[in-house]
Amino acid sequence: MTQVLIIYASDYGNTEKMARAAAEGAGSIDTVSAVIKTADEVDADDMTASQGVLIGSPVHMGTIDWRVKKFIDTVCSGLWIRDRMIGRVGGVFTTGGGFGGAGGGAEIAMLSLLTTLAELGMLIVPLPKNTPGYTDGGLQWGPYGRSADADMENVGVSDAALDVARRHGANVARAAVVSGNADFFAP
Ligand SMILES: Cc1cc2nc3c(=O)[nH]c(=O)nc-3n(C[C@H](O)[C@H](O)[C@H](O)COP(=O)(O)O)c2cc1C
Repeated sequence: MTQVLIIYASDYGNTEKMARAAAEGAGSIDTVSAVIKTADEVDADDMTASQGVLIGSPVHMGTIDWRVKKFIDTVCSGLWIRDRMIGRVGGVFTTGGGFGGAGGGAEIAMLSLLTTLAELGMLIVPLPKNTPGYTDGGLQWGPYGRSADADMENVGVSDAALDVARRHGANVARAAVVSGNADFFAP
């Protein structure tokens, strides 16, 4: 079996919903098992047991949630120094209240998460623009669920965003299966 790990932080359940959708998509691929952990509970063994990793964060103050950053600075940093995640597959997703047309920091949050995957030497899975639901549920960096209406009331992420998260999870899982036996970055 190929393990795909989905890591997230969530206060109000929106990012958790996206994480569960991504896990459903990953788990729909033959020979893949999906495991979900919060950023608080995930450890280095969870990471090294996984050929694919998805990291999701709510947008907080224009960038990522502090619990996700803590996971990056504690768990990921040790894996980075020991080259433990090189050649594995990664993807990201976010949710946000979406002040402003560009999503109030969603893009910066996703790029921050992608930077971490790149630091780790991982193969990054983007979100192709022909993905059904792309217009409502994502951008090239990954799925984005807008959880607030124009008055900043929490209305929850759309079904389109959840569907995009499902598809992204499946894409990461397929790439994880293919990459499992390949040595892309042989020194
Ligand atoms: C402290 C805090 C800061 C936030 N900052 C932003 C922001 O800069 N941009 C944005 O689009 N949404 C922002 N939001 C809204 C959340 O990103 C949004 O409600 C998200 O869907 C929450 O995810 P959750 O339900 O998984 O907790 C913020 C929310 C909180 C609590």
